[in-house]
Amino acid sequence: MIPKSPKKANLISIFSGENVPLARSELRAVLEGSDYSFEILREESRFSIVEVERFDDQLRRILGRLAYCRYTAIQLGIVPLRKLQTIAKIWRLEDSLSGMRTFSVRAYGFKGSPTGQSLEANVGKIILERFSHLKVDLTNPEVKVLALKMGEDLLIGYTINDQTKSTWHLRRPRKRVFFYPSAIFPKMARLMVNLSRIREGEVFLDPFVGTGSLTIEASLMGMYSVGIDVIRWICRGARYNLQDLNLSHCEVLNADSRNPPIRDVHCIATDFPYGRSTKTSNTDPRNLALEVIASSADLLRPGRCFVGMYPKEWGLTDSDFESFEEMERHEIPVHRSLTRVLSVMKRI
Ligand SMILES: C[S@@+](CC[C@H](N)C(=O)[O-])C[C@H]1O[C@@H](n2cnc3c(N)ncnc32)[C@H](O)[C@@H]1O
Repeated sequence: MIPKSPKKANLISIFSGENVPLARSELRAVLEGSDYSFEILREESRFSIVEVERFDDQLRRILGRLAYCRYTAIQLGIVPLRKLQTIAKIWRLEDSLSGMRTFSVRAYGFKGSPTGQSLEANVGKIILERFSHLKVDLTNPEVKVLALKMGEDLLIGYTINDQTKSTWHLRRPRKRVFFYPSAIFPKMARLMVNLSRIREGEVFLDPFVGTGSLTIEASLMGMYSVGIDVIRWICRGARYNLQDLNLSHCEVLNADSRNPPIRDVHCIATDFPYGRSTKTSNTDPRNLALEVIASSADLLRPGRCFVGMYPKEWGLTDSDFESFEEMERHEIPVHRSLTRVLSVMKRI
């Protein structure tokens, strides 16, 4: 339940385990691309606590975009692990649980040990004693109470976004009407769009659209998305994929991205072609990427971002990106002979 009058709140973001540094960057990027002022108060191994100036439905929706975050929760209080009973005294518990009928408790930070399970049971018992109208529902609770170990304390919160129910599998490349093997997975595509700090309603561009992975995620998040591909039948395939998901605010253009047929976009993100997917351009893939980064500079306003993913062996550095400065870079190991770099560049 969202407080009636929006006010300052501490949010807890619990990340999925596969790449926590990327998850932290995504959270920061999405908040930076919003109108909400925030401060990251604490970074633990699997979660961060963020103070926001106000919490309302709009912020909840924005945070619902996060791909690498498992839950977002509102912090209710902190109690010493040795004095678990004091949970009943957390006054904001009233705010969050009184209108609910079912709940469950999820403990974090106990590494699956019996302590974690018995703690869930104990916290559940304390809550049931205080709110007799509530029932425990472990499969489909209206609200999940989270209990996160933080040193000798327990951080208590309740979920406002549960991304574990996301539907990634329904959008995976092989489920699309048009598929080819170099397509990237929706979770990574969404992360890349989010790292570009784009806002709802803005224009997003993927200059190497392929099957449309990034444009699909951008459209689903409320952006107007444009994709470009040099091969006509690939453009047709990308359009089928977008239509199949009933996405309307999107367009696929058949062109060479070194000369993009578009003037002005807010943010760009792309998975640069390499290996088999480059054979059509007759250009060295590294040079193609550099040419497209250079031509993209004319499309972006200062301060706006270009997110690019490419193989580490290209050895690109900040000095290769004229008109851009690199804000952050992540290395993603794929297999023994391939590490990808994900670079966020800001137009200067
Ligand atoms: C790696 S794939 C993109 C895959 C895409 N991210 C996806 O998930 O489906 C690269 C795409 O870039 C396109 N391409 C290659 N050279 C291009 C160019 N000069 N301009 C525009 N598109 C180009 C290829 O036709 C190919 O579809």
